Amino acid sequence: MAFRWVILGAGSIAGKFADAVRRAEDCEVVAVASRSLSRAEAFARAQGIPAAYDDYARMLQEVRPDAAYIATTTNAHAELTRLCIGSGVAVLCEKAMFMSSAEAQEVLSLARARGVFCMEAMWSRLLPAVREMKRQLDADVIGEVKYAEFAIGWQAPTQPGNRFFDPALGGGAAYDLMVYGYELADFFLGQPQEHMEAAVRWSDSGVDETETVTLHWPQCMGTLSASITVNLDERAVLFGTKGVLRMSKPHMAEGFTCTLNDGTITRWQDSATQNGFIYEVDEVMRCVRAGMLESPAVPHDLTIRCAKMFDRIMAVRED
Ligand SMILES: NC(=O)c1ccc[n+]([C@@H]2O[C@H](COP(=O)([O-])OP(=O)(O)OC[C@H]3O[C@@H](n4cnc5c(N)ncnc54)[C@H](OP(=O)(O)O)[C@@H]3O)[C@@H](O)[C@H]2O)c1
Repeated sequence: MAFRWVILGAGSIAGKFADAVRRAEDCEVVAVASRSLSRAEAFARAQGIPAAYDDYARMLQEVRPDAAYIATTTNAHAELTRLCIGSGVAVLCEKAMFMSSAEAQEVLSLARARGVFCMEAMWSRLLPAVREMKRQLDADVIGEVKYAEFAIGWQAPTQPGNRFFDPALGGGAAYDLMVYGYELADFFLGQPQEHMEAAVRWSDSGVDETETVTLHWPQCMGTLSASITVNLDERAVLFGTKGVLRMSKPHMAEGFTCTLNDGTITRWQDSATQNGFIYEVDEVMRCVRAGMLESPAVPHDLTIRCAKMFDRIMAVRED
């Protein structure tokens, strides 16, 4: 029987997810819910979804899906994840899944206690280019990594009403973009040490608009940068003793370049992927069907540790 998805929140990223489910095998989106019925109906029409609701809870109760994708603004993620857990529905929740480590620990403990699968939608860790770069790293192609850089940033719209600069909607560079830097750095280099240094610029509206975090591992250090106010040179660069691996736009990675110290350059390109969300769709279905409570690709511990980085960034305001 086809795996039945529902979507909570009929905003912009929900459309990309619905497209990914159409491309994936053996699954379908059976309903969408929005706080506005007309928005839910318009979304359902555009995406070919058979049912539209103006109530998230009622949709979960009536449809009893195999999994829910939470596509609302970040401020609502914890509450809606709790709602799904309470309904016994597996969750794939957009990044950043939580706004603090206290919230992450509380909700993910609840999920484990109730035996409900939960996963942060960190699709980038599942992309073929990211996986291949990790394979080359583990195969010692560039030797031991001594330094790493991760930068993700773009000039987000500033008009009132959009989520990026609005603290009430969970705006700011950390929840939107730094989350990628941390969770990709962890993927490539393993769990960083707890100690980190953060520096932050705050927007007039009160969100973190540009920031850097320095992370440490036993063998190396790395800097993460994020901004919602300028276009950064978006990259993941791993500097090793034998060469350098460089990936542009690592959160939506399509390829990377390996430059060895002797000048040899090779390029790996993913020309097959059309919608990178398909890998997280497949991963959730695999885990839920296997009765797992979390995915090894995006484990709970990763989401909690990343939320601890958010705690550190937000604490800079009080430093
Ligand atoms: N993985 C990726 O590549 C990617 C890319 C972009 C965004 N995202 C993440 O996806 C999430 C949504 O981003 P988006 O760009 O799609 O946002 P959006 O279009 O601005 O809003 C998405 C939905 O959030 C809900 N919403 C708005 N205000 C709310 C409020 N005050 N309380 C509760 N819900 C509210 C609305 O749902 P209703 O329709 O129910 O009212 C809206 O349709 C964010 O967490 C973002 O970080 C991920």
